[in-house]
Amino acid sequence: MTEATALDWHRVARTSDVIAAAPKPVRVGNRLIALYRIAGQVYATDNICSHEFAELSDGMLDGEYIECPLHQARFHVPTGKAASLPATEDIATFQVRIEGDEVLVGVPRRR
Ligand code: FES
Repeated sequence: MTEATALDWHRVARTSDVIAAAPKPVRVGNRLIALYRIAGQVYATDNICSHEFAELSDGMLDGEYIECPLHQARFHVPTGKAASLPATEDIATFQVRIEGDEVLVGVPRRR
């Protein structure tokens, strides 16, 4: 049996700030998160590449994939899966909730 992970929900942006043209970097505590708008939906992933240190929000969004600006690894935004080298580790994804004109991100509660 799997236990549901408790989430803390954080208001991180207005919906109008998350546009299809470019990912939006936000911060929850010391966690750096990138928001994306793809086909009208808002998604959230870790903003730091799993290969080395680069902010994915500085990369190029291509459909459902974000390309890292440093060495061009690609990640599938909805799942966080590493889709091309040199990245081999996936990135975390976060649940997103829209309340009115605000975007909330669910971050797993620290124990
Ligand atoms: S830092 Fe992202 S691919 Fe190297």
